[in-house]
Amino acid sequence: MVILQEGQVYKIITDKTQKSMTFYITYVDRLKDEVFVKVFSPFSLYEGFRISTIENKTLKEIIDFEKIKNFYFENIPFSIKNKIGKLLYQKENHPICIVKNKINDFFEKYDKFEFQNPMVSVRNNFDNLLIPQNHPGRKESDTFYSENKFLVLRTHTTAHQTELLKKKITKFIVTGDVYRRDTIDASHFPVFHQVEGVNVLGSVSDKVVIEHLKDTLSGLIKHLFGNDVKYRFIDEYFPFTNPSFEVVVEYHGIEMEVLGSGVIHKDIMKNCGLEGQNGWAFGMGLERLAMIFFDIPDIRYFWSEDPRCLSQFKAGEFTKFQPYSKYPSAIRDISMWITEGFEDNYFFDLVRDLSENLVEEVSLTDSFTNPKTNRSSKTFRIKFRSIDKTLTGEEIDKILNEIKQELINKDYEIR
Ligand code: PHE
Repeated sequence: MVILQEGQVYKIITDKTQKSMTFYITYVDRLKDEVFVKVFSPFSLYEGFRISTIENKTLKEIIDFEKIKNFYFENIPFSIKNKIGKLLYQKENHPICIVKNKINDFFEKYDKFEFQNPMVSVRNNFDNLLIPQNHPGRKESDTFYSENKFLVLRTHTTAHQTELLKKKITKFIVTGDVYRRDTIDASHFPVFHQVEGVNVLGSVSDKVVIEHLKDTLSGLIKHLFGNDVKYRFIDEYFPFTNPSFEVVVEYHGIEMEVLGSGVIHKDIMKNCGLEGQNGWAFGMGLERLAMIFFDIPDIRYFWSEDPRCLSQFKAGEFTKFQPYSKYPSAIRDISMWITEGFEDNYFFDLVRDLSENLVEEVSLTDSFTNPKTNRSSKTFRIKFRSIDKTLTGEEIDKILNEIKQELINKDYEIR
């Protein structure tokens, strides 16, 4: 018997693998007579497991590790959890909602759906969409899983496609928040928003569907960017559509991908009880559009609760954003020895968790392996800049030290 304590490191022999694993306990929670423990493997930053079935449940902090049978895999950091349920796309004066409404206006005759809970089954997000097991989108370093990888924070709004098709809902728009681990810079955030469209046209040929899809999307692009917009379709690949296309729009001389689309895969139609029917689907991100239409320079503004930001937007209006000020930035480097299984995304998560959006950008500036010792090192450059205030050196160093301390807790050696 061992007394569990937060912040302690324990060794556990698991039933499943018979392997000994070292875990770092991040919290112990007691609810009635159940004990919940969240543990992290120090060797890969966000491999977290929640032990939620413990045979020897007691109100005390004593757990018999020999009897632990179930480890529940979860890798959703705190900085992500506290974004769930913000529902930016339903706040009528928020730029994301304003863009959503503009798109919905175009799809007047389509059924509209907004599923507020972003936690969906792995089956709906991946399996039913024919996304193969080894697809990079399924990687734990890219995707947030819960409940032993039965649930996932949807990585795209396509996650709702088969559910609706099975109910014979065949002409619809779905909007929602989607989640992907990502780099830290002005245009990437691990939570963003997508709009999905589906239209099943009946037992018609692919040619008819493609033509209808291209006509519809051309209309949408003009509705959003104006009639003079320059755009083109390029061939793409998605496991759930065939053929697939991307739309690239030229904006201020720069080409950018604005949406993915295609003819819904025949196997999906069949699995949804729509054999012989044919239709199209598209999916489009909202942040990038909103950044263009409102002149928003940094994706973090969408999450700002500063009235100087929020008060600038009004339902139905596409006004240009006036940054209230550009505050000074400060650069700090962290160099560390990494171990096998380390992914840059884990470092980005840690920075997001501990910096509360005070970091504008993180870049990998150096990486090498010592040929003698075979140890690998990485150096990350962190650019601190708040969108709301000037940061003091003290504030910055406090965050920096917390990041370093967390790395040390997880057994990484800072150089
Ligand atoms: N789900 C795709 C993405 O997130 C977009 C897409 C939707 C592509 C529907 C084809 C059909 O990139």
